[in-house]
Amino acid sequence: MKKPAISDTPILDQLRDRWSPRAFSNRPVPLESLRSLMEAARWAPSCFNVQPWRFIVATRDGGDEFQTALSCLVEGNQKWAQHAPLLLLVAAQMNFDDGKKNPHAFYDTGQAMAHLSVQATALGLFIHQMAGIVHDKIVQTYGLPDGFETVCAAAIGYYGETDSLDGKLHDMEVAPRARRALSESFFSGAWDRPAAV
Ligand SMILES: Cc1cc2nc3c(=O)[nH]c(=O)nc-3n(C[C@H](O)[C@H](O)[C@H](O)COP(=O)(O)O)c2cc1C
Repeated sequence: MKKPAISDTPILDQLRDRWSPRAFSNRPVPLESLRSLMEAARWAPSCFNVQPWRFIVATRDGGDEFQTALSCLVEGNQKWAQHAPLLLLVAAQMNFDDGKKNPHAFYDTGQAMAHLSVQATALGLFIHQMAGIVHDKIVQTYGLPDGFETVCAAAIGYYGETDSLDGKLHDMEVAPRARRALSESFFSGAWDRPAAV
């Protein structure tokens, strides 16, 4: 199913076509595509180039490892994410090497995810990011060292069948995508004064 952004001005095809589905096909993500996703994230910019992002990769054909990663999602997300062929658990290093706090660790990790999302769309893949994760479980299961925090998870794969979802999940899948107007996010001169563009 396609749910392109209805934009007032044209944007890149990959940005237009990206959306966050819950109906994944169980078709595996080719290794080469997975490597492309990892490279795309790797080349994101970051504050002082410290690259605070870290990813735990779990593919469905990894068996137990996939189930372990899946169990780190909240139940509501497990329900649909279990069908995706690839899960990522995302963490960030919260300090610089000198021990000082890196206030941009989450920002930069999000930016790496944005890179990965665009690359995924270019490869015909879909990605659904999730805040609904069990943070302590990830820390314990994977032995995150001090100074690292869990950020989010993502389910990645090809689109499946919309009708494989029912109830509320189906409703959310077919719901139109919406965004605030540009005038509510872009200001000039003063707060809340829409940018005159
Ligand atoms: C950081 C982040 C956390 C999210 N957490 C969840 C989540 O736990 N469960 C879920 O179903 N969707 C989650 N989403 C998906 C958002 O609801 C979705 O991106 C948003 O509604 C916009 O829809 P679109 O991505 O299709 O444009 C999350 C997205 C992001 C970026």
